[in-house]
Amino acid sequence: MSNNEEINSIDPNSISQQELHGYLLSAVAPRPICFASTIDKDGNVNLSPFSYFNLFSVNPPMMIFSPSRRGRDNTTKHTLDNVLEVKETVINIVNYDMVEQMSLSSTEYGDRVNEFVKAGFTQVPSDKVKPPRVGEAPVAFECVVDQVIALGDGPGAGNLVLAKVVQIHVKKAFLDADGNLDTPKLDLVARMGGNWYCRANGDALFEIPKPIRTQGIGVDMLPEAVRNSSVLTGNNLGRLGNLEELPTKEAIEKISEHPDVKSIVGGLKNTSEIHTLAQKWLTEGNTEDALALLHL
Ligand SMILES: Cc1cc2nc3c(=O)[nH]c(=O)nc-3n(C[C@H](O)[C@H](O)[C@H](O)COP(=O)(O)O)c2cc1C
Repeated sequence: MSNNEEINSIDPNSISQQELHGYLLSAVAPRPICFASTIDKDGNVNLSPFSYFNLFSVNPPMMIFSPSRRGRDNTTKHTLDNVLEVKETVINIVNYDMVEQMSLSSTEYGDRVNEFVKAGFTQVPSDKVKPPRVGEAPVAFECVVDQVIALGDGPGAGNLVLAKVVQIHVKKAFLDADGNLDTPKLDLVARMGGNWYCRANGDALFEIPKPIRTQGIGVDMLPEAVRNSSVLTGNNLGRLGNLEELPTKEAIEKISEHPDVKSIVGGLKNTSEIHTLAQKWLTEGNTEDALALLHL
């Protein structure tokens, strides 16, 4: 990183709540969307999306979402009122096919208005909890509410709803041949800042090989000229540092015989050309050879 990049350093207490909202929601993104169905003590059903949401534990299986106090008038949202009355919810997962109807359901309809009806979703009875699930959702989690934690009592204050999963519904169309959820098929959407959303499909999806039981050598173990390269990017260095060992003498000798290497190295080593070739190999997934090349 260059030292002369201009930075705005901001004390959150020095800006308006609207500005703070903008920075926080644009930077902490993409956020998954919890499409929560709840019910009040009289049986009125509610359905609303929340992107202050994530999975926090597998044992117990626990998700948390946060219906905030309204910035406008500091009132609480129906979803929060409902989970305090009936401590159950269904967290429905939203994919691209549902995104416009999901957005419609976030309209501030009055008390007792069922957003399943307003947004045109199918209300399917749950197995273990009273709130129904969304029939269109690829995955739905029936949950019991373990705790509700208020983070404040002013406008914009969040309320953490800790929801423990007690039943899971997965549409078979979204499974792969091994019976696992198939990420490209799911086509999930996420919330960004402003009116932006993003869609997890096509070129937006990529994989990073990660040694789970072993340790990568680390960027600090790469030669200095590689670490300070003007060609190789941080992503390139991260991929190299993820390898488990430095190249052997034999591997380095072997790579020096590679025709692409011979054509650029010749008698003189041209660092920039070597780094450019290493980068090409990294892009092609040939990480070990790229590391050996960078040790010539
Ligand atoms: C994609 C999306 C994500 C949202 N995330 C949140 C959130 O995390 N917290 C929140 O308080 N409101 C959030 N909202 C706004 C609520 O969905 C909206 O206030 C809703 O009408 C609340 O309904 P209720 O009063 O019936 O519970 C979000 C809206 C959308 C469209």
